[in-house]
This record gives sequence, structure tokens and C-alpha cells, in this order.
Amino acid sequence: MTKPEQVTALRERLAERTLGLLFVNAAITRGDIPIGDVLEEMFVEVMVTNALSPMRVVESFRSLVAPTGTIGVMSSRQGSVSLNTNGGQDVYRASKSALNQLMRGYAARYADAAHTLLLICPGRVRTELGGPDAPLTIDQSIPGVVDTIDRHSGEPGLQFLNYQDQPVPW
Ligand SMILES: NC(=O)c1ccc[n+]([C@@H]2O[C@H](COP(=O)([O-])OP(=O)(O)OC[C@H]3O[C@@H](n4cnc5c(N)ncnc54)[C@H](OP(=O)(O)O)[C@@H]3O)[C@@H](O)[C@H]2O)c1
Repeated sequence: MTKPEQVTALRERLAERTLGLLFVNAAITRGDIPIGDVLEEMFVEVMVTNALSPMRVVESFRSLVAPTGTIGVMSSRQGSVSLNTNGGQDVYRASKSALNQLMRGYAARYADAAHTLLLICPGRVRTELGGPDAPLTIDQSIPGVVDTIDRHSGEPGLQFLNYQDQPVPW
């Protein structure tokens, strides 16, 4: 996803397809390091992977999405600016906030399109990224993600929702 030539190659390979749903999921974290100690290289890597690259995919693939189809991007509650009252995970949080902000800009730019635009928080899930102490298993989260996406099918505009179909504050 971080290699534009590979994104372009995939876009070309799928050129004849129409997608009901485009869902961009990949992201990375590089540990809970306070911002003053974060190396520039790591900051750039996380920002490029979690914010710039998903938006490049969305921009590149949007023309394959059916006129009333859905574009979803995996975000996180950690990207909520207003919910950040206890700090931590500075770079990951900043990258998801940037992603959310970029999706808001995208939604405004393509306000005439009928696409459903969803930023999704899957909850804290026991994956490599979520770690072994996360409260949810994949089976407890992802069916809710899928149901939430399905439920909002056909609704134009951007929403930030969690896996229980509840709005997440920006
Ligand atoms: N787990 C949680 O608690 C949690 C909470 C909130 C949000 N999220 C979000 O949910 C999404 C999925 O996370 P996860 O928990 O499933 O994490 P994960 O287990 O670490 O999986 C991340 C996935 O992203 C892929 N990926 C990373 N960099 C990539 C790149 N440059 N190009 C293509 N693929 C790349 C990885 O592929 P490889 O294995 O090939 O590297 C892997 O399949 C992410 O957007 C994450 O921010 C997760």
C-alpha cells in the first residue's frame, strides 16, 4: 500500500471491475513512544502508511466504486481528537487523526458523489497491532464491522462509526 507503483498496478488489474465496497484496512504502529523521543524516520513511516497511503488508494480506486457503493477506511477511536484525554500512542493517534481529517476533506471535495463514506473503529482487538491484552477477539469485532458497513449502505456522506454502529466523536 505504501508503494504507489503497486497500487497503480492493482488499479489497472481491476480496471474492468465495479466494486460495491472498497475497504482500506492496513495500518501499522511502532510502539508507544512519547513524541519528543520519536525519530523522524518513524514518524514519516507511520504517517505515510496510515494516513497518506489509504487516501492514495481511495483516490485511485474511487472510480471503480459503484455510484451508490461504499468506501470504508479502518480508522480508530485513537484518532478522535476530542476523546484524547489520557494521551499515549502519540504517533499512531496522530496518524489516525490525520486520516480522519483527510477523509473529511475528501468528503467535502466529492460532496456531489453518492458514495457512502465510512471511517470505522473496530474496538480494541487482539491482533498483532492490538496486542494480547486487547479485550475483543477478531470474532467479537469484525462481524459488527461488517454489519455496520451493511447497515449504512446507500447513505451518502461521511460517518465515523464503531463496530457496534455507534458514532465516534471527532
Ligand atoms: N487491533 C486493534 O485493536 C485496532 C484498534 C483500532 C483500529 N485498528 C485498525 O484496524 C486495522 C487492522 O489492524 P489489525 O489490528 O488487524 O493490525 P495487524 O494485525 O497488525 O494487521 C495489519 C495489516 O496491515 C497490513 N499492512 C501493514 N502495512 C502495510 C503496507 N504498507 N501495505 C499493505 N499492507 C500493510 C499488514 O500486512 P502484513 O502482515 O503483510 O505486514 C497486516 O495485514 C488497522 O487500520 C488498525 O489501525 C485496530
